[in-house]
Amino acid sequence: MWPAVFYSFLALFLAGGASGQTWCGKNYMASSPIVPPGGEFPIPATSSEPLVAFRCAPAIRPYLPEDTSTPAVFIVDTPLTHLKVDNAQAIDLPGHGALGDLAVTISVNGRIVAKENVPLNSTTAEVSFSLRTLTPQTKAFDVSCSAIYTANKGKTQKFTASSSLSFMPDPPKGRSVTKMDLRTGALLAKPATGEDGPYETVFPIGFYTDFSSYIAANLSILNDLKEQGFTVVHPVPTFDNLTALNAVVDRMQELGLYLMYDMRWTYMNATNVTEEVNRIKNRPNLLLWYTGDEPDGTSDPLDATSNTYDLIYSLDGYHPVSLVLNCENFYWTEYTAGSDIVMQDTYMIGNNVTFSNQWGTVCTPDYGDCGCDNCKGEFEDISTRMDEFAERLWVNGWDRTKAVWTVPQAFGGSSYWTRTPSGKEYVVQAVLGINHGGLGVVAWNDPTTPDIKASSSLLAKSLPTMKEFILDPTATFSHVKVDRIDVGFWTVGKQTLLLATNLNYAPKTFSLDGVHAGKNVRQVFDSGATVSGREIVLESVGTGAFILS
Ligand SMILES: *[C@@H]1O[C@H](CO)[C@@H](O)[C@H](O)[C@H]1NC(C)=O
Ligand SMILES: *[C@@H]1O[C@H](CO)[C@@H](O)[C@H](O)[C@H]1NC(C)=O
Ligand SMILES: *[C@@H]1O[C@H](CO)[C@@H](O)[C@H](O)[C@H]1NC(C)=O
Ligand SMILES: *[C@@H]1O[C@H](CO)[C@@H](O)[C@H](O)[C@H]1NC(C)=O
Ligand SMILES: *[C@@H]1O[C@H](CO)[C@@H](O)[C@H](O)[C@H]1NC(C)=O
Ligand SMILES: *[C@@H]1O[C@H](CO)[C@@H](O)[C@H](O)[C@H]1NC(C)=O
Repeated sequence: MWPAVFYSFLALFLAGGASGQTWCGKNYMASSPIVPPGGEFPIPATSSEPLVAFRCAPAIRPYLPEDTSTPAVFIVDTPLTHLKVDNAQAIDLPGHGALGDLAVTISVNGRIVAKENVPLNSTTAEVSFSLRTLTPQTKAFDVSCSAIYTANKGKTQKFTASSSLSFMPDPPKGRSVTKMDLRTGALLAKPATGEDGPYETVFPIGFYTDFSSYIAANLSILNDLKEQGFTVVHPVPTFDNLTALNAVVDRMQELGLYLMYDMRWTYMNATNVTEEVNRIKNRPNLLLWYTGDEPDGTSDPLDATSNTYDLIYSLDGYHPVSLVLNCENFYWTEYTAGSDIVMQDTYMIGNNVTFSNQWGTVCTPDYGDCGCDNCKGEFEDISTRMDEFAERLWVNGWDRTKAVWTVPQAFGGSSYWTRTPSGKEYVVQAVLGINHGGLGVVAWNDPTTPDIKASSSLLAKSLPTMKEFILDPTATFSHVKVDRIDVGFWTVGKQTLLLATNLNYAPKTFSLDGVHAGKNVRQVFDSGATVSGREIVLESVGTGAFILS
């Protein structure tokens, strides 16, 4: 998450000032010609016949020996589509009447562990199985799923899908485990203090945080961050003073703050990664690893993130791996392959996204660098990016196995970005990310302004309530956008969380009529929004969360 211009200078410096630098594969210096960057994500072909995208995945990654006492679960997805996404296979549907079921069989390492009927066109089916017959191992088990469809009379059709099951031995004493709930994409962890306690969902909210000049220089800042409700700290390397790094991570653990460990400068060097992973992997508050920082921007080798991913798994295996992509559409699949969590950092505030104030050129789909790749200069750049990433996960068959997080802009007043967002604008960015599937919010960067700190703290303090909806595997989600008010709804049982954010620089109202019948409305987050009768009243760039029942 360095502003792109930093890399530009770095690249210039390394290249001895030669022209021809690229960002997202695009030339951006006035002296350079337009050369199409390539690397676009292929648009899936459409099929005139219906297809079934039959997929299966374990509900939890990894399972541990402690999980054998209760049934384990496979998620079986059977959505119908007309897009030729990964593993989509043609299916003959009955001419009329119900779609019926698929008879599903799931095998682990060639042995059948479950058989169950699953409705066709479902994304909520769970099939139980027992881990008791398996011996945990470090290497993932191969899973094959098959489905027989006979609902179309006289015709038997068979579909297959493969997956993998992670059922690992207990970690060495002291090492924590971060599980991922593949029903939601949420992370599950024990308390960051290292004390024993149940696995709970974690909604990561915090900042990329300056290290030597900031938290390492004054550990009490970490106490403030805890007090302010943040759950995660992402210290920004370099970490050349290991005494200072240890002091920071110790204090974070005392306070119960999770660590997102960044290897941006070293991730392509196996010697360094090995040393760092072995140094940090036994830290009880380690939540996840972070490798490439905008590797797509700088066009790092296409296999660098996935090679490092494999190395980290071979050294640890108990914590997921994340990275951030800066480009809208540049070798997305190759870079994302090296992650369990892919973040996007669409910085559109105070930024002329069509004419580069740094390079004096226009920015187009194949030229220029404006610090926000292929953006329009509106909040929707963020929701569009989130939606595109989610769509690509689905196309690649990664919708269950990878999650998307969002990186709000909490900086400005330099290079491309002429001003810093207000606190309310920070919240709009964060909530747009959440309403479009984001399961973590880590802003660039702290130190930030008191206004952003206050707003982000308010959001962080409301997340323990909101996560009981957003991260609940039984929640049903829906989304509407009316008059540029972006609204997410998560229903669990008889209660619905409504999260509404106004993308307009003008007050707006949103009517509950037609979207929710319940009488009770309880506000749980206020960043410039209130409820009045059946209306949610939003200030200019105001946001609010309400529980309806
Ligand atoms: C499959 O489910 C989707 C989403 O619920 C729905 O829009 C679609 O109509 C269903 N398809 C069929 C053929 O029932
Ligand atoms: C260290 O941080 C604490 C908490 O923010 C603050 O009260 C204190 O003044 C800081 N100390 C120094 C020396 O800056
Ligand atoms: C490294 O950090 C420790 C703890 O903050 C500090 O006491 C020490 O002076 C630092 N060492 C160097 C070489 O800066
Ligand atoms: C990786 O780091 C080691 C130790 O600093 C160094 O010797 C080696 O040259 C580096 N390798 C690469 C490819 O940069
Ligand atoms: C990489 O590893 C080498 C060898 O341990 C070490 O000297 C060097 O400082 C490391 N580089 C970084 C950036 O951590
Ligand atoms: C961006 O800069 C160009 C060139 O200076 C200017 O014409 C345009 O109006 C600017 N756009 C915005 C949104 O400021």
